[in-house]
Amino acid sequence: KKLSIIAAPFSGGQSKLGVEKGPTFMLKHGLQHQLTNLGWTTQVQHPFSQEDYSTRVKSDTKDMLAHIKRPQLVGEAAQLVYGAVQEALSHNEFPLTLGGDHSIAMGTVSATVEKYPDVGVLWIDAHADINTLDSTDSGNLHGCPVSFLMGLNKTGKLECPPSLQWVPANLKPEKIVYIGLRDIDATEKEILKEQGINAFSMYHVDKFGINKVIEMALMLLHPETAGVGPIMCSYDVDALDPLFVPATGTPVRGGLTLREGLFLVERLAETGDLVGLDIVEVNPDLAAHDVHVSDTIAASCAIARCALGETLL
Ligand code: ARG
Ligand code: MN
Ligand code: MN
Ligand code: MN
Repeated sequence: KKLSIIAAPFSGGQSKLGVEKGPTFMLKHGLQHQLTNLGWTTQVQHPFSQEDYSTRVKSDTKDMLAHIKRPQLVGEAAQLVYGAVQEALSHNEFPLTLGGDHSIAMGTVSATVEKYPDVGVLWIDAHADINTLDSTDSGNLHGCPVSFLMGLNKTGKLECPPSLQWVPANLKPEKIVYIGLRDIDATEKEILKEQGINAFSMYHVDKFGINKVIEMALMLLHPETAGVGPIMCSYDVDALDPLFVPATGTPVRGGLTLREGLFLVERLAETGDLVGLDIVEVNPDLAAHDVHVSDTIAASCAIARCALGETLL
């Protein structure tokens, strides 16, 4: 059981500084030691060790494509993360990527699909993050990673910038399922429908309960084998209700309870089929006081531990 913890302190996919502090805070909380206690051999990778993205994010005002913010930086950073995940997988290490904003999932998911062509992706989020270059209102690329993973920016009006052309468009619409959605742009709703993507919003969690939702999600991702097959989980902590995770950039009320959010990954660990995990959008600077920081970091570390084998009994 080998684990590669990939620190991805990047904030350029959105506009709020501080989300680059996520990995440091989770590691300072003792995450590596906690995972070692679960029986993992762990090492921490720093794909950005040669780069100073915090400085470049603050100073690089020319990095724009129409209203799209920082396509150069996002493309570069996500590509370094892509390399780190490829490297971990090539050594049979489980990649646990700590964000950073969700734009880095362009790298984590595409590298994982390359290694496991039939992998099913569970995207746990309040948001669908499937805006295209043409559809995004905010111009924040953390709202767009899924459209790049699926190749939806190859045919649009705005041409895909060179910095993002490396993203392998290897994610098929039937190989991603969302859980936790509750804040979706009108354009995103259309894309989800057009692509026929399966999504469980908070309505479905309320209606069926989280256990049923996760079973249905697994069935949809691996229909031929009754839900059995490799799974990767890209976990945006804003899927949880801001009561539990207040320190995040785009909080939306009415989210998963802490137990629902942990059960989800406990269940994935139980399948024995989890092959990769991202934990993103932890922003310690967006807390009104210290308790907000410690609640958010504790919940984020608990997601990692539960996904990697911690059980209550
Ligand atoms: N849909 C909005 C946008 O495109 C919000 C995205 C929020 N994404 C996130 N990873 N927190 O900007
Ligand atoms: Mn290695
Ligand atoms: Mn989100
Ligand atoms: Mn997200």
